[in-house]
Amino acid sequence: MSAAFRADLLSDTLTRPTDGMRAAMAAAEVGDDVFGEDPSVNALEAEVADRLGHEAGLFTPSGSMANQLGLRLHVAPGQEMVCDSLAHVVRAELGAAAAFSGISSRTWVAPRGLLSAGDPLALMITGAGVYQVNTALVVVENTHNFGGGTVQPIDEIRLLRKGAQERGVHMHLDGARLWNAHVASGVALADYGREFDTVSVCLSKGLGAPVGSVLVGSAEAMAEARIWRKRYGGGMRQVGILAAAGRYALAHHVERLADDHARASRAAAAFAEALPGCLDPDLVETNILVMDVSGAGWTGAALAAAALDQGVRIYAVGPGAVRLVWHLDVSDEATDVAIDVVSGLLRSGPPVTAA
Ligand SMILES: Cc1ncc(COP(=O)(O)O)c(C=O)c1O
Repeated sequence: MSAAFRADLLSDTLTRPTDGMRAAMAAAEVGDDVFGEDPSVNALEAEVADRLGHEAGLFTPSGSMANQLGLRLHVAPGQEMVCDSLAHVVRAELGAAAAFSGISSRTWVAPRGLLSAGDPLALMITGAGVYQVNTALVVVENTHNFGGGTVQPIDEIRLLRKGAQERGVHMHLDGARLWNAHVASGVALADYGREFDTVSVCLSKGLGAPVGSVLVGSAEAMAEARIWRKRYGGGMRQVGILAAAGRYALAHHVERLADDHARASRAAAAFAEALPGCLDPDLVETNILVMDVSGAGWTGAALAAAALDQGVRIYAVGPGAVRLVWHLDVSDEATDVAIDVVSGLLRSGPPVTAA
């Protein structure tokens, strides 16, 4: 956590490499990854693919690039992907699917981003002929970021897979935080992974690596994605230094995500007590907490500014909503500070200004 804040809950991308991770990076064997000759990258790709029950992997500089490579593998220009309206791929990747790949998108509305298989299945159009747009892909996000760290039910994923396969529609998983879903639900990573044609996972969020994501799928699909990665300018050279950080994170930082979940859950209970109705603490399952603070008279932005004045950084995610995210660098003590400051503000409401 930056020394500038008493508690920094802006995002789980803020983590800094630990001493152990830095040592692993310094010791990494490296080669030129564009030629496929970086042993640390090759080991990382194989390990992630194996954990997710897929044939091959591809290391990418970001989760956005891993997602966008996944999308373009399945959807031809002029075809469509469907996803929920809060999904990162349509909300926070700057229109990349349309801009780079000519992909058209349609969305369904999912409260908290929670998947109900009937929603995407009802949207899909296949064999559309010369008038409507053909659905080629459905994207699922697990856990769901803007939904509040929501874990997608494996039964709904399986139902969706069955219906999608019957319609010839492929599935991509935005698993930026699949590690959190796995730790919270106890569902094996490969049980999630095998329901999808491609999966992207991030190493640079709760796992604490400084950079990097991995896309997994069939060997053939990853060979094609490798070409597109280079075309997008994502071919990297002696990047084993970063892959080593990712491998260290996989070995040391997956199971500990349960600590982040417990801290988020503790804060959720405190906030629900300070402002009844601002959230349902039972729905805070992982490391992300989203709450509606309008009941106390706050806007999201005003509450975030007032918390910052007291050294606690949180994020306004809507007119009346804020988001807090736990990660490797938020301790029990920092959680106590955040609970104190934010609960106090929820109880007091915004300062009364003279008319
Ligand atoms: C669900 C989800 N997918 C993808 C990404 C993109 O990751 P990156 O910031 O590495 O491009 C993020 C980033 O926060 C995310 O939350």
